[in-house]
Amino acid sequence: MTGPVALRGPALRLRHDPFLQGPEDALESHPDALVVMEGGRITAFADHASERAAHPPDMPVTHHPHRLIVAGFVDAHVHYPQVGMIGAYGETLLSWLRRYTFPEEARFADPAVARRAADLFLAEMLRAGTTTAAVYCTVHAHSVEALFAAAQPLGLRLIAGKVLMDRNAPDELLDGPDLGIPESEALIARWHGRGRLAYAVTPRFAPSCTPEQLAAAGRLWRGHPGTYLQTHLAETREECDWVRDLFGRDTLDAYAEAGLVGPRAVFGHAIHLDERDWGALHAGGCGVAHCPSSNLFLGSGAFPLFTARRADRPVRVGIGSDVGAGTSLSALRTLGDGYKVAVSSGARLTAAHGLWLATRGGAEALHLADRIGDLAVGMEADLVVLDPAATPLLARRVERSEDDADRLFAMMTLGDERCVRETWVAGRRVHGGA
Ligand code: GUN
Ligand code: ZN
Repeated sequence: MTGPVALRGPALRLRHDPFLQGPEDALESHPDALVVMEGGRITAFADHASERAAHPPDMPVTHHPHRLIVAGFVDAHVHYPQVGMIGAYGETLLSWLRRYTFPEEARFADPAVARRAADLFLAEMLRAGTTTAAVYCTVHAHSVEALFAAAQPLGLRLIAGKVLMDRNAPDELLDGPDLGIPESEALIARWHGRGRLAYAVTPRFAPSCTPEQLAAAGRLWRGHPGTYLQTHLAETREECDWVRDLFGRDTLDAYAEAGLVGPRAVFGHAIHLDERDWGALHAGGCGVAHCPSSNLFLGSGAFPLFTARRADRPVRVGIGSDVGAGTSLSALRTLGDGYKVAVSSGARLTAAHGLWLATRGGAEALHLADRIGDLAVGMEADLVVLDPAATPLLARRVERSEDDADRLFAMMTLGDERCVRETWVAGRRVHGGA
């Protein structure tokens, strides 16, 4: 094993949950921190002046005096096969799926197409500073193979699974009479728990699954403790009406009936819900991925973030890029869109809220907050070095910034991949640097 390495520079973490305890004192700013990493974990995090002498004088230290070190970003909902069709023009969800998404995913019948997309996706993810993601593949088992095989050598923490569909999609994308269960089982056996990889049972959404397939997915998930369940929930009103026609009940009730509501279930979108649903998501320990850029792009609706996180029954919420309905893999850009969605409903998303959603909130949604999402001793060493002056406009904007909160907010508004100078995964630099 190699010895310790360190990053030095301004660092920012969260003292507490800004949604539950208020944003005012939530950000903890370290003007000159030393973050020491060894064996894939953070082994020291303190002010450089007091900490440096405790470590070997020859320990490699990369100094970033004008940057900002934060925990790596968590993307709680993204479709890697859609990287090649991001920004497809002019549709709402259901016609966008039919017209652009299904034909693109059908191309993944060719394993070479999957491998190429996986490589691009992972490289872009690291360029965006994302170190953990919950990823949808296609119905093809080899699409999962391609992603996990490419992610493993990078040491990335990735949750992914084969999409399950047995109706309302083109024939070549439908699971057969075995409902896609044996293929999913084989993938779990091969990949779940290998290094930092985890499997997610992935019924696409209620309209593309029969009640039998949803129930089989529920049995599979419950039969393999530690695996995840990911699907879409109440993204558009049209979809909700369709589910009511197909299942005779609201979407979350259909999922609950199939045994899909519980800890490690991660629901994308969750826009058109009622109070009973929020209570069920809270009680179930479910995660929700707020995907603002996607919701704006498809006109799906405004996620009621502060309702979801209401202090008396907070639901676990992270952010999702939802590429390719989302228009960027960048957590910073996604948060910029999240700010605009919040403000349009009369709420305010501070820098503290934003950092929470992109790091600790995502970790909580994925039940990984004991390992990732924070800059603290014992955490896995997934880190991002941000440059608040990455572009001429940002440089000008932050000239008179007085604190890290303002610099971070400027990056949420004006920044993107260009702000990500370095990405570290399990104590190794995997993007940027010399
Ligand atoms: N609902 C079902 N499938 C999808 C998808 O691929 N993207 C989005 N945004 N919503 C979906
Ligand atoms: Zn999605």
